Amino acid sequence: MHAQSLLNRAALVLRKVGPDTPADEALRIEMAARKSWSAVERRALTRAVYSYFRWLLWLPEKEAIQAKVDQALSLQDRFEKNEKDIKPQALAARAVPEWLAGEMELPVSFLRQLQRQPTLWMRSRKGQEQQVATSLEDCDVVETAIPGAVAPLKTLRYKGTRDLYRSPDFQAGRFEIQDLASQAVGLLCNPQPGETWWDTCAGQGGKTLHLADLMDNKGLLWATDRSKRRLDVLAKRAARAEVFNYRVAAWEGEEKLPTKTLFDGILIDAPCSGVGTWQRNPHARWTTSPQDVAELSQVQKRLLTHACVALCEGGRLVYSVCTLTRSETTGVIEAFLRTHPDFTLETATTLVPGEFDSNGMYIAVLRKK
Ligand SMILES: C[S@@+](CC[C@H](N)C(=O)[O-])C[C@H]1O[C@@H](n2cnc3c(N)ncnc32)[C@H](O)[C@@H]1O
Repeated sequence: MHAQSLLNRAALVLRKVGPDTPADEALRIEMAARKSWSAVERRALTRAVYSYFRWLLWLPEKEAIQAKVDQALSLQDRFEKNEKDIKPQALAARAVPEWLAGEMELPVSFLRQLQRQPTLWMRSRKGQEQQVATSLEDCDVVETAIPGAVAPLKTLRYKGTRDLYRSPDFQAGRFEIQDLASQAVGLLCNPQPGETWWDTCAGQGGKTLHLADLMDNKGLLWATDRSKRRLDVLAKRAARAEVFNYRVAAWEGEEKLPTKTLFDGILIDAPCSGVGTWQRNPHARWTTSPQDVAELSQVQKRLLTHACVALCEGGRLVYSVCTLTRSETTGVIEAFLRTHPDFTLETATTLVPGEFDSNGMYIAVLRKK
């Protein structure tokens, strides 16, 4: 039996989870109210809540919520001790919803990765990887070959227990917490100093900041999103990272574009079903539906069709989604190429969790003839 206080805390959070409150949000609310908790206590609670959703279909329905969390943690411990103890057939049937098999292959390496604790990846400014790793401690510099990229990705893997957001290196903008797969998107964009780029779905700016760093802060970046709130966060992060060569505007994927500028490169990091994040966010496995996939693929096609007009001849159009469903990956790009013969597909890269110790990601690089 795991500590009763941990089970009670997890039950408290799980009771707040509902249609309008995803598990990550419920956890954030609880943590914000418990300022005195240590990083170790916070991590234990996150592990308990997420184990519950990882092993949900193994748990008996009628038990009290604390007993279910206890069982989920036991399953997590057992799996971490010997992964082969949980049979592949059981993982295929219970670790993901049934509809997923109609949208993607389910190799056992992928299913096992979904049940593991995720790795914490970080991105430092270009050339400062070793300096940041040494300063933080418990941090390795890792080089990974990304299919289609001209150079390996140099990234940081953190194994310690500190609250990184409070570290002086973070406050000084020397690194960002960013998944390896998300960093691969910037690498495949490969923007050059002095170019003009448009990050159409910039959100809170994870990839905008990476593009700016790859461009040595030279050139111009447009960052747009439908969410003003997210763009406000982007502005704060950009100030911390000392990124100034960007403009922000609202854009919701409509035909009317936010600027008449023609770009050397456009990144469409589109809204998606997020199947590639199900290791990090296991609650989403049970709230995402085939209908979401169908609707999002329409949004993705619309974003591509409208944004591509702003590309100059020979420019690069990069489409990325942190999902692996056929409808939102190859399906979207094949449909786009059928109606846009002036574009060619240069590379299509799929990062499958299990092959890469990261989120799942699909990245297509197209070029305008
Ligand atoms: C995958 S997230 C972007 C993450 C971001 N690029 C980053 O690296 O931090 C997708 C973004 O698309 C935005 N979005 C959703 N629907 C949109 C639409 N129709 N037009 C433009 N942006 C949209 C969301 O607000 C969200 O910020």
